[in-house]
Amino acid sequence: MLNGEIISNDPLKSGYFFVRFHAPEICATARAGQFVHVRIAGLGQYILRRPFSIHSTDGDVLSVVYKVVGNGTEQLSRLTPGTVCDLLGPVGNPYTPPADDEIPVLVGGGYGSAALYLLTRTSKQRGVLLLGARSEADLILHDRYRDAGFDVRLATNDGSVGYKGFVTALIPPLLEEYAGKKLRFYGCGPRPMLLALARQLIELGQPGEISLDHLMCCGVGACFACVVKVRSDDGNGWKYARTCKDGPVFDARDVWLED
Ligand code: FES
Repeated sequence: MLNGEIISNDPLKSGYFFVRFHAPEICATARAGQFVHVRIAGLGQYILRRPFSIHSTDGDVLSVVYKVVGNGTEQLSRLTPGTVCDLLGPVGNPYTPPADDEIPVLVGGGYGSAALYLLTRTSKQRGVLLLGARSEADLILHDRYRDAGFDVRLATNDGSVGYKGFVTALIPPLLEEYAGKKLRFYGCGPRPMLLALARQLIELGQPGEISLDHLMCCGVGACFACVVKVRSDDGNGWKYARTCKDGPVFDARDVWLED
């Protein structure tokens, strides 16, 4: 558990915020896909910590992107620079970085784009971001991927920007365009999108990992509030795994796809 002083806490758009903490110990080891468990200052000692995906690390500065959706994030949005929060992290298993000859294809839904960003730092190849959301108002952070040199393609359910439809529809034409190249997919976003992505990757025979953000309590593997069904170690059956400790990142082929 570490003290993280807030350096800035700014609105992005549509209820999304970008908060930066001074957190050198966490930044030293944080990898894409991991998260921090935050005790939000002002919420009280006995209120549960909240898990947030790590968006970026820049020197000693840890960035997190969040959306105001309840009391905890509402309180977080009110905190000003200089406020200190109690941070636990980095927590969870990260994404496997792409091999030198693999092109990372990041598939994000909504602010799933936040958790994929550190993969832009571990890729030797120019990667691709496929980002989908309900409408233009929910598309965030894609300019940061463009600035990192990624090829960015957008999809919205209402057609307000980019392709009209689900982000997974962008994958077949991408595969045609990148025929002969080695791709590795990384997903983060709403559960239905991730399950659709996992099914598609299996059908297409493409490698990939998805991050299953699930309801969490303790965040350290003790309470089993966050279990999901995944393939057993021998590959012949299924078992329950904790998203906070055994995940949140799982191979797309190992995730139970029935719900
Ligand atoms: Fe307690 Fe995962 S949140 S075991």
